[in-house]
Amino acid sequence: MPTKRSLAAKLGVVAGFDSPRAALEQYHTPPELAAHVVHLADLHGDVDGRTVVDLGTGTGMLALGAALRGPARVIGLELDRAALETARTNERRVAASAPIHWVHADATRSPVAPAEPVTLVMNPPFGAQNSNRHADRRFLETASDLAAVSYSVHNAGSESFVDAFVADHGGGVTHAFAATLDVDAQFAHHTEETRALDVEVFRIEWA
Ligand SMILES: C[S@@+](CC[C@H](N)C(=O)[O-])C[C@H]1O[C@@H](n2cnc3c(N)ncnc32)[C@H](O)[C@@H]1O
Repeated sequence: MPTKRSLAAKLGVVAGFDSPRAALEQYHTPPELAAHVVHLADLHGDVDGRTVVDLGTGTGMLALGAALRGPARVIGLELDRAALETARTNERRVAASAPIHWVHADATRSPVAPAEPVTLVMNPPFGAQNSNRHADRRFLETASDLAAVSYSVHNAGSESFVDAFVADHGGGVTHAFAATLDVDAQFAHHTEETRALDVEVFRIEWA
């Protein structure tokens, strides 16, 4: 299996959002964190030959990371058409051979329901913006409906919320780790050039 570092290097060509929308919490997943999540999923046998769905795919960072690890196919689902255009451009840059379907849809009402077991990856909006409150809960609901296993990024302090949600939906958290996500200043409310966001990543097996 190629290294996590080589995957992060390949994802270094993925371009960020052209015109990021604050209400949709559009900041991209750094290549190192995307590589960490995808590499962990690959080590668990959750990528090779599988259908991988990326909810709120944005620039396509997580979808493209998965596409570089031999899945049967990848589906990147996103609400914002402009972001999907960026994801398509990034697909050409990364040149992964796996088939990728870019789907314009609301992740909280996913029109996608593959019959085969799905591995889901996501870095959803955390709900930090008022109009988006509880956004990650609604993404988790879709994960519980669609996925056999999921990998998701949440803001720090989400562990008890995620544990309770997963227990209520008959699943189990198998792995959890803390990470840092560097967000470049891109919205009016950002006062520092780069802000390090503390996040938590969860691997969840759904019933
Ligand atoms: C934190 S960003 C992560 C983006 C992506 N994973 C990346 O690394 O570029 C959250 C993404 O979710 C998308 N999003 C927000 N609400 C959505 C919804 N209801 N349905 C689909 N996508 C949504 C945003 O447009 C944004 O691209």
